[in-house]
Amino acid sequence: NRPKVLITRPDVPAGGLNLLKEQCDVILWEKPEPISRSALLSKIQNVDGVYCLLTDKIDEEVLNAAGPQLKVVASMSVGVDHLDLQALKKRNIKVGYTPGILTDATAELAVALLLSTSRRLIEANRAIYKGEWKAWSPTWMCGPGLSGSTVGIVGLGRIGTQVAKCLKGFNTAKILYTSRSIKQAAIQFGGEKVELETLLERSDFIIVTTALTPDTRQMFNKNTFQKMKKSAIFINVSRGDVVDQPALIEALKNGIIRAAGLDVMTPEPIPLDNELLKLDNCVILPHIGSAAIETREEMSIITAKNIMAVLKGVPAEMPSPLQL
Ligand code: GLV
Ligand code: GLV
Repeated sequence: NRPKVLITRPDVPAGGLNLLKEQCDVILWEKPEPISRSALLSKIQNVDGVYCLLTDKIDEEVLNAAGPQLKVVASMSVGVDHLDLQALKKRNIKVGYTPGILTDATAELAVALLLSTSRRLIEANRAIYKGEWKAWSPTWMCGPGLSGSTVGIVGLGRIGTQVAKCLKGFNTAKILYTSRSIKQAAIQFGGEKVELETLLERSDFIIVTTALTPDTRQMFNKNTFQKMKKSAIFINVSRGDVVDQPALIEALKNGIIRAAGLDVMTPEPIPLDNELLKLDNCVILPHIGSAAIETREEMSIITAKNIMAVLKGVPAEMPSPLQL
């Protein structure tokens, strides 16, 4: 009697997919776009495990649609803001996610996005195609350098720590961070824990790597953008909802801050008529933080193993359980 597992996308990397196919009856959402709400509500009936993505909202309604045999929900992501953890805990459903393995990939992307924004790589590249490159120019396409700068990391977890270590290699002068507790890892890069307000006032580059929680939702708003330097560069690789986006657009248009680099926004995908896409001082990426080939493969294997450990009756062997 093989367990039934729902996978909410057909193109999950082969490693995890094959692992599950060997040992389970796999129900695969067959379209390349996110599973529709109605399909999720119907396909989750009778399954023992769910392999989901950050685009799938797993809440009370979905769990009510699932039967009592549902034992595990494993998300192929480090963020878990799409999961109603209270509702999962109440039903004693085990939850898996994929922290750690995507740290380096996401930190790489954060650094790439920061440099693309500060040194105006996308804008400069477009300028060539628009015929705007007339000659080498002493002042054209300049942006602030990292060397000697102060960097502020909001929410110093695994990813933020790795970003800080990378940036230290660019001869930054100072790294500030916010966190609930003092992080031992910050000793490696001489990081100083400060209040958010201090970080906003002192940082040349502000990088957001915090999880989205009720506390961090909209933490970047008119008030917080006002506290930043006019020359500040704002980078977000966490979740779009940590930002009041209309306030960010205003700040970018009115020179409240210099520029922003966003791997996450609201909504995703961003509509093509959104104002953010019209701003030269905003670099936007389509949520590709963890999109290193090896990383995605490993995320799929960990997700499958999180599911199998529970379905075999040994949740203690989940490679990365989320403690509820
Ligand atoms: C990506 O945003 C993730 O949460 O894994
Ligand atoms: C948080 O998601 C982290 O791993 O930094």
